[in-house]
Amino acid sequence: MLRLLDGKAMALTVRERVRQAVQALARQGRTPGLAVVLVGDDPASQVYVRNKDRAAREAGIEARTLLLAASTRQVELEARINELNQDPSVHGILVQLPLPSGLDAARIVRAIDPAKDVDGLHPENVAALAMGDSTGLVPCTPAGCVEILDQSQVPLAGSRVVVLGRSALVGKPLALLCLQRDATVTIAHSKTLDLPQLCAQADILCAAVGRPELVRGSWIRPGACVIDVGINRLASGKLVGDVAFDEARLVAGSLTPVPGGVGPMTIAMLLENTLRAAQRSFAKRSGATTQVARARQERC
Ligand code: GUN
Repeated sequence: MLRLLDGKAMALTVRERVRQAVQALARQGRTPGLAVVLVGDDPASQVYVRNKDRAAREAGIEARTLLLAASTRQVELEARINELNQDPSVHGILVQLPLPSGLDAARIVRAIDPAKDVDGLHPENVAALAMGDSTGLVPCTPAGCVEILDQSQVPLAGSRVVVLGRSALVGKPLALLCLQRDATVTIAHSKTLDLPQLCAQADILCAAVGRPELVRGSWIRPGACVIDVGINRLASGKLVGDVAFDEARLVAGSLTPVPGGVGPMTIAMLLENTLRAAQRSFAKRSGATTQVARARQERC
């Protein structure tokens, strides 16, 4: 029997957890702050950014959105990021991707203070994940996929995981997260030979390629857990994932729907990353204050 993995409900659990932690900080007079930067007027990005801003506010996070013209130059954008890096009321910075052509996204990401990089894309955070160092910030969508597996009690340790897609935002970090949790992981991509046969070996199949309904029911091992990261809009206007849902539901043991699966989880994990970044910053500052007080005492 198919178990539908309700990402919307699971995201609400995470959002409530964050809201309560933010409330506890507020009682100490501390408020986490998130800055979302949108360059240009891509309609899909506008919707994503609005949703992130609203979700952050609902969690009690002080959110601000910087809307910049598509004509913004690299140096101007880097200067704005630098201002946010210096601003002590901002604990998380997210620059919505993709950026308009002419802007170098990799350089922009590197300009963000790694401690505020709630997208987990700065090379320092990427390296931490690759080294198995859990102190870094992890990209939100892969972290959301693992949270769905955890909340659904789908074990990762010892499982065969196949990740379709090798993007820096999802495929690679998702593979590393699963590896960190003792899964046996294979990353497949557009040049992988005999994709259906490889997928059929997976206990957990994660599709993150951005190709509508690429994964057919016949590719899925009966009873497998299928995580569909894709969000593709067809010419008809219908939203579909990277998995042919109506076929997959007849074979999979558990499956995330599109919409209502991984999507809501991405925003929830952004809130969690912002909370983590803020907690670290508060702890660091109170640690520094204690050190100063101690040094003063010693001098007396
Ligand atoms: N565009 C699509 N997904 C994302 C994301 O997770 N982070 C950023 N910054 N941009 C995106």
